[in-house]
Amino acid sequence: MEIIIKETPEKVADEILKRLKKIINKKRHPVIGLPTGNTPKIIYKKMIEAHKKGEMDFSDIIIFAHDEYVGIPGNHPNSTKTYFKENLLNELNIPEKNLFFINGTPDDLKVECRKVEEAIRDVGGIDFQLFGIGKDGHIGFNEPGSSLNSRTRVKPLTFSTIRYLSKIFGSEEETPRFCITMGVGTIMDSKEVAIVAFGYEKKDAVKRCVEGPITSAFPASIIQMHPKAKVYLDEKAASLLDEKEYYKWAYENKEKMYDYLKNKKEV
Ligand code: GLP
Repeated sequence: MEIIIKETPEKVADEILKRLKKIINKKRHPVIGLPTGNTPKIIYKKMIEAHKKGEMDFSDIIIFAHDEYVGIPGNHPNSTKTYFKENLLNELNIPEKNLFFINGTPDDLKVECRKVEEAIRDVGGIDFQLFGIGKDGHIGFNEPGSSLNSRTRVKPLTFSTIRYLSKIFGSEEETPRFCITMGVGTIMDSKEVAIVAFGYEKKDAVKRCVEGPITSAFPASIIQMHPKAKVYLDEKAASLLDEKEYYKWAYENKEKMYDYLKNKKEV
């Protein structure tokens, strides 16, 4: 697991963009999973800027959304689909056929969940999944108690998530109680997984995710088991980490480590 800590969300977003550029340039059809929420908006802004400057071409990228609210149609102002259109897709050149959104109002919820798993399989798996983190440890909408092997399914939202989302939906009564989300197992099958968090309000969640025990009571902690995991943090979100200075040193000196290994080989 690699922990990347930068002073500001802006600088963290630059690091994520650097990584995304590498992934996008490596493959003809890179497959990326992206989150909703406030946290990634700065990253999406930078993706749009890079596209406008001609530095990044998104025409061959395939995008998956992690989740959708049950009972909320794609054209609802608060659907995941609308979120992505408004914050990212309206400005990029991604063909409609390369975008995968979960349908929150299917005839059959189970069939819809199966479709998500099949769609991921059909494109050869997800190359890079970026997640935000809920204060209660959810990634996607895998709330506490989620099986660490779960697949895409319907999940009830916790009371704290409903409270949080009520700011977007207007009231708790109007906030959906259920969602369809990629499962923890689905997420763990991805070739690379990253979590991003900003601000003091995420510091406890980050501490449990990175340095706490791996437990279904805090699903984001499963990232510790992924062979290619990155956690992108600003200083505030990282403030409770015991090994913060070590993580920073390790990342800043990564190049030196590669140089050292290369030299060793040549000897
Ligand atoms: C939401 C979403 C996640 C998001 C998380 C944190 O409910 N399902 O995709 O990462 O909660 O949101 P925020 O970035 O607004 O704190």
